[in-house]
Amino acid sequence: MKRKDIARRDLLKNGAAAIFATTVPLGSPLLGWALPTRQDAAAAPAPATAKIKIDFDRKIGAIDRNIYGNFTEHLGRCIYGGIYEEGSSLSDSDGFRKDVLDAVRGMHVSVLRWPGGNFSSGYNWKDGIGPKDARPRRWDTAWQEEESNRFGTDEFIEYCRKLGVEPYICVNMGTGAMQDAADWVEYCNATTDTYWANLRKKNGHPEPYNVKYWALGNEVYGSWQAGHKDAAAYSADALEFGKMMRWVDPSIKLVACGGPGVDWNLPVLEKLVDLVDYISLHHYGGSLDTAKEFTDAHEFENQIRILDAVITAIMSRTGKKQRVAIAVDEWNIWFRSWFHRGDNHMLEEVYNLRDALWVASGLNTFHRNCQAVKLADVAQLVNVIAPIMSSPTGIVLQTTYYPLKLYTEHCGNVALDALVRSDAFPALPEVPYLDVSATTNDGNQSLTLAVVNRHPTVDIAADIAIEGFTPQSSGDLYEINGPSLDATNTFAAPNQVTAKRKTYSGAGRVFRQSFAAHSVSVITMRA
Ligand code: AHR
Repeated sequence: MKRKDIARRDLLKNGAAAIFATTVPLGSPLLGWALPTRQDAAAAPAPATAKIKIDFDRKIGAIDRNIYGNFTEHLGRCIYGGIYEEGSSLSDSDGFRKDVLDAVRGMHVSVLRWPGGNFSSGYNWKDGIGPKDARPRRWDTAWQEEESNRFGTDEFIEYCRKLGVEPYICVNMGTGAMQDAADWVEYCNATTDTYWANLRKKNGHPEPYNVKYWALGNEVYGSWQAGHKDAAAYSADALEFGKMMRWVDPSIKLVACGGPGVDWNLPVLEKLVDLVDYISLHHYGGSLDTAKEFTDAHEFENQIRILDAVITAIMSRTGKKQRVAIAVDEWNIWFRSWFHRGDNHMLEEVYNLRDALWVASGLNTFHRNCQAVKLADVAQLVNVIAPIMSSPTGIVLQTTYYPLKLYTEHCGNVALDALVRSDAFPALPEVPYLDVSATTNDGNQSLTLAVVNRHPTVDIAADIAIEGFTPQSSGDLYEINGPSLDATNTFAAPNQVTAKRKTYSGAGRVFRQSFAAHSVSVITMRA
């Protein structure tokens, strides 16, 4: 079976780690990370101009900043050698890599998920607190690695504090007990004169951490997960875990473990609708074929809409008023680099410009579906399928870093319903070359257009019409681009793909703007 076939089938149907558990044995030659040859679909003839229409009366809703979240897992070099490297001259006195911290700050991450992922289903958080040298070393069954436990809850919270991000913890619903989950909430959030709260204080942290977001398990539906269960068994357990955790801190927000389809999500939500605030969704995509990669972006949006429809059905059946939101708490391109026990290349995907365009399309998807998606975490932050790569001597910003940076810096907090007409990939009428999101701010003082031109070779001129807002005629336009869709940033050539500041001019209520082939453009127009 070809590697990309494995990825297409298993990533979309079952979640990414299905590959490891069901089709790729440990030690298999498939577990290398050599790049297959590119197989782009033939480009279409030059398309006609596209149209973008925006009406300020057509607002979709508020964009929750938690959609700009990220994820750190004990996996390969994400934590150790990524965000945390004790003894390195590049680290601060707490062991955090300062260059990585600075790069993460550049993406304005809002919420950070930890400790997994698959890792969380075998993790005993009690191993990771107290004096570091006394912490037990454990075998991590999820990723087949040694875990030193030198990075634990206190270090995670410290990292979040340095970044000013909201911590988001995924509890162990694999090998863990509900008492462990409740104890974890007590350790983090309680001010009571009780064992776990007092232990936090004794460990040097008198103030509670107030961790607001808690996930009830990770990908519990999959056989690759420690303690995997069917929907009925999972939701019965999750109800009790969540109840116990809330009995410690009633203010926490709970995320149910969503699955790959309706068969899981419907019964789980039916059982947990009164308990949870969110249901999770994971999506990994990617292809060397341009049309396929963007078809996947389209499928990603469909996946969100289907889950949103399930939520609507459950809300209507139960009459519950407070809508359960979607937490896309793992999303990214992942199809090239696999689980390779014992080396330093665990999931170290090298991203190209095509992948950056896919990430921008994903962010546009979240904007367009802002009423449903209230939290999202790119998987993952550093080295492991990540926008930032580190070595012992420095970092490189991958292509996918730039959309994450530009969108958080320039997009508004209210999504507008942009009408887009553009030619589509040959034989794929549902996958247009241009993918667009439009946002404004409270007060309608700006309009930000985020436009992804996914055509491999052709610039596209779009006729833009705006109702209810008159933009200044000129201003900044930031463009992410590079020599080709296959361009990558590596330590040897770190700046093949970057974001460049340019200008637009001649704007008005009606104007024409050209978008370069294989680019992301973010234009903020002021009133
Ligand atoms: O992000 C890598 C892995 O992908 C996570 O551990 C798991 O949740 C998913 O399958």
